[in-house]
Amino acid sequence: MDAEKVTAPGLAQRKSAHGEMAERIVMVTAYDATFSRLADEAGVDVLLVGDSMGMVVQGVANTLPVTLDETVYHTRLVSRGAERALVVGDLPFGSYQVSPEQGVASSIRLVKEGRAAAVKLEGGVPMAETIEAITRIDIPVMAHIGLTPQSFHRMGGHRVQGRSAGSQPGGRERLIADAKAVEAAGAFSVVLEGIPRSLAAEITSNLSIPTIGIGAGPECDGQVLVLHDLLGLEDRITPTFVRRYADLRHDAIAAVAAYADDVRTGAFPGPDESYHLSSDVAETLGLYGSAAD
Ligand code: KIV
Repeated sequence: MDAEKVTAPGLAQRKSAHGEMAERIVMVTAYDATFSRLADEAGVDVLLVGDSMGMVVQGVANTLPVTLDETVYHTRLVSRGAERALVVGDLPFGSYQVSPEQGVASSIRLVKEGRAAAVKLEGGVPMAETIEAITRIDIPVMAHIGLTPQSFHRMGGHRVQGRSAGSQPGGRERLIADAKAVEAAGAFSVVLEGIPRSLAAEITSNLSIPTIGIGAGPECDGQVLVLHDLLGLEDRITPTFVRRYADLRHDAIAAVAAYADDVRTGAFPGPDESYHLSSDVAETLGLYGSAAD
């Protein structure tokens, strides 16, 4: 595995002038240092500190309540765990829609306090000015179009977009215009979420920047999944596009239940898991790793 740090320009350069990808981009979400370290070690390219934290770690119904303070905090945790992967902080709802200046100020917080190396925001044509303003101060921007969860109320829920023709938000022609607008505004990549495969393929072949798909088919230049979904940590019904690579929820429940049994029967802790009056070996508590900022 190449240990060289992944960068936003490095990812953009993976796509040639002819539209071929040297290597597809692998992105997962992360919300804390433990999972960040794990995904980084597995060799993913990008760790997205997504506002999906609302559903995944905060237990709310959609991404709208997530705040910038919370995102900054989680981005800092993820940055501590990432050695190679690019850390992208997601701008939450309300932290950039008011004006380009607000988007710039929020992005600075994600970089300065969260140590993100790039930010992501949702929206196409109406967000072009904001993308330009953020990239002008040298913060790389990943755009996100299609099923944009922050448009929950406009979409009437989390619904597949681009199935019907039209230039209204979510219409097929509008999504093509959105993709072109974020590219022209200077985004280094764009997430395509919840759109038909054929539309994602068309957008991908017409953009010079890489597309990263989630529920957008295999022709995208990269893929992203929510880490907890691919690990099988969620009990909610996962969408069609999710592939579960493990059943950690089942394993975790079984492990905690076995611990509970051992505590109740007195089988835990055993002699080797207890301290004794004298010992030949130097014992440390082993609870804490090395100090990090
Ligand atoms: O918040 C998030 O996790 C996302 C991805 C699903 C793309 O935006």
